[in-house]
Amino acid sequence: MAGLAGVVCLLLLLAASSVAAVAAAEAEFRSSYIVHVAAEHAPQSTRPRLLARSYTFLRDSLPAHMLRPAPRVFYAYAHAATGFAARLTERQVAHLASQRSVLAVVPDETLQLHTTLTPSFLGLSPSSGLLPRSNGAADVVISVIDSGIYPMDRPSFAADASLPLPPSKFRGTCVSTPSFNGSAYCNNKLVGARFFYEGMKLRMGVAAFSEAEDSLSPLDTNGQGSHTASTAAGSAGVDASFFN
Ligand SMILES: *[C@@H]1O[C@H](CO)[C@@H](O)[C@H](O)[C@H]1NC(C)=O
Repeated sequence: MAGLAGVVCLLLLLAASSVAAVAAAEAEFRSSYIVHVAAEHAPQSTRPRLLARSYTFLRDSLPAHMLRPAPRVFYAYAHAATGFAARLTERQVAHLASQRSVLAVVPDETLQLHTTLTPSFLGLSPSSGLLPRSNGAADVVISVIDSGIYPMDRPSFAADASLPLPPSKFRGTCVSTPSFNGSAYCNNKLVGARFFYEGMKLRMGVAAFSEAEDSLSPLDTNGQGSHTASTAAGSAGVDASFFN
């Protein structure tokens, strides 16, 4: 009888400690990271969807005991970069960063503006260097990942009759939202506009995010994205200020 009680207690103890282990893992704090994967190690899954492939990559890269709390992938990258954005714990990040297949794991964080004097910051001059060497290229689509764009009545982003249509392989789209009329704002100069907000929403929390003024739209509400976009590809010779 004493023996049986002992077994029962042991079982209960085991059950209790595994519940505690699961609870501890679930309580581990997760934050958002961008994981850059070496292209040759990109998940070669037969699963067609990129997000699904990222989960396969995580499952193959993390030891079983680190798969809790479960990573949550919210974007996957396959063109300008290879990798994905995910909610991960510090232990998962440390393990991933030690893998040969992982080039870098970068925290997803709010960046502060450095300068409004971009041409001098980048060393651009009308008479020498990159600017004249670009020769005003007209057959290039430039993608800017930034705070959005403010195209209304901005000469930098106005339709330009001298520009051809985007190349047929261009697959970008111009979305419309209540604060951004894609049909009115996109043209043969500004050929596309989209917005990606999952990282910000996860960082701020859904409630604070839904009140943020620049939430669900490509519209730029702080000038930064318009500034960089016009620096990279704004119309030449127009009178541009910070927001133009
Ligand atoms: C968006 O712009 C187009 C083209 O200027 C216009 O016809 C349309 O009414 C606009 N839509 C809204 C919702 O303002």
